[in-house]
Amino acid sequence: VSEDVFDRTRRHDRLEFVSLARQHDVLPYFRRLESIVGPTAEIEGSERVMLGGNNYLGLTTDRRVLGAARDALDRYGTGVTGSRTLHGTLRIHDELEQELAEWLGAEEVLVFSTGYGANLGCIATLMRPGDNVICDAADHASIFDAVAMSQARMRPFRHNDIKRLDLALEMAQREEGGMLVVVDGVFSMEGDVADLAGITQVCRDRGARLLVDEAHGIGVLGPRGAGAGDAYGVEGQIDLRMGTFSKSLASCGGFIAGPAAVIDFLRLQSRPFMFTASGVPASLGAALGALRVIRSAEGLQLLGRLRDNAMYLRAGLSDQGWNVSEPSALPDGTALITPIIPVLVGKDWEAVRLWKALFDLGVYVNVALYPAVPRGQALLRTSVTAAHTREHLGRALAEFAAVRSTVETLSLKAPT
Ligand SMILES: Cc1ncc(COP(=O)(O)O)c(C=O)c1O
Repeated sequence: VSEDVFDRTRRHDRLEFVSLARQHDVLPYFRRLESIVGPTAEIEGSERVMLGGNNYLGLTTDRRVLGAARDALDRYGTGVTGSRTLHGTLRIHDELEQELAEWLGAEEVLVFSTGYGANLGCIATLMRPGDNVICDAADHASIFDAVAMSQARMRPFRHNDIKRLDLALEMAQREEGGMLVVVDGVFSMEGDVADLAGITQVCRDRGARLLVDEAHGIGVLGPRGAGAGDAYGVEGQIDLRMGTFSKSLASCGGFIAGPAAVIDFLRLQSRPFMFTASGVPASLGAALGALRVIRSAEGLQLLGRLRDNAMYLRAGLSDQGWNVSEPSALPDGTALITPIIPVLVGKDWEAVRLWKALFDLGVYVNVALYPAVPRGQALLRTSVTAAHTREHLGRALAEFAAVRSTVETLSLKAPT
C-alpha cells in the first residue's frame, strides 16, 4: 500500500518545537499587525517599536510613495489579471525598468512580480543540467530553490570564504558546463557583506559569470545607495544584479539587471516570469515613487540617517553585552554599516523566550531559527530604518537591558 502523503504533515521535524512554542505562547510567527507599519506598529493590541522589518528608508509611509501607489491604482485598477507576457505589461513597467537601468548603469532591467521569482526566473532559465552554480552557503533560499529548479550542479562554499570559492570554481572548471557564481550582496540574516573585491577577482580569473542579489544592499550601501557593488566600486564587474522592491523600495516585486541580450532571453524564456501574474499596479507605482526618492538628494540624507541609526543600535546592544558581530569592512578598512544587526543566541528555545520577553515589553524583533539559519545558530534579527528616532531606539535599548537583567529568571530552556 502506498504511503498517504498527508501522514508526513503530522510528523515533520519542526512539529514538536512549534507545538510546544504555541502551548507556551512564544511562537514568533504569524503575529498580527493591526496598523500601518512605520518605526512603530500596533501589533496584537499594543504599540511596539518595530525592529523587525526591511523598510530600511522608511518609505512605506512616505506621502510621495503613497501618492504614486494611489495614482497607479486610479489609473490601472486593482490588478492586471494576467501575465506580463500577454496583457500585463503596463507603461509603469517600462518607466520602472528604464529608471532602474539608468540608476544601476545596466543595459536593461526586467521586472518580476516578486524578488523570489526574479531569482528563480533568472537562475533556473540561464542554468541547465551539466552546469555548475557556486553559491555562498548563507545565500537566500530563493537562490538554492532556483538552482534546484535548473537541475544544474550546486556547489556551496563556506560563507564569504574566497579560498573555498576559488576551490569550488577550480573543481567546476574541470567539467564542461557553464559556471555561475551567486552571492547575496548583504546577507539577509547576518547583515554582513559579500567580499566583492575578492569575488569579482576570482570570477574573472576563473572565467565564471557573477550574479549578486542586492535585495538588502539597495537603498543601504554605496555612495549612490545602489548596493554592495556600489560600495565596493565593482558594479561594472558584476554580470547580473538582482533586486527586490520589498525592502528599501517599500513595495513588492523584484528585478534582474544586466546585458540586453540576457534580459531579452529571460523575457522570452523564463517560466517563472511568464507563468505568473504581473505585479499589481499600486506595487509598481510605489516602487517607482520610492526609486525616485532614493535617487533624489533626500535619498542620500535618508541613507545617512539609516547608517547613524544602525551604528547607534549596534553600539548600544554591544555595550549591554549582547553577542553582536562586527560589521564587514572594505579593503581600506571602511566599515560597511548595514541596518541588520543580529544578536546571536544559539538555541532555538532561548531565542524564542528572549523574543517573547522583548515582545511583551513593546519591542518587535525577528527571530531566525533553523532552517533560516544553521541548527544551533538561532539569532534575534534586529533591523533599523531611517524613520526611527533616537527616542524609539532608546526605548528599544532600555527594554533589551531590562530583558538582559532578567535572563536568569527567564526560563530559557525548552520545557520537557
Ligand atoms: C537576499 C534575498 N533575496 C531574495 C529575496 C526574495 O525577495 P521577495 O521577498 O521580494 O520575494 C529576499 C527576501 O525575502 C532576500 O532577503
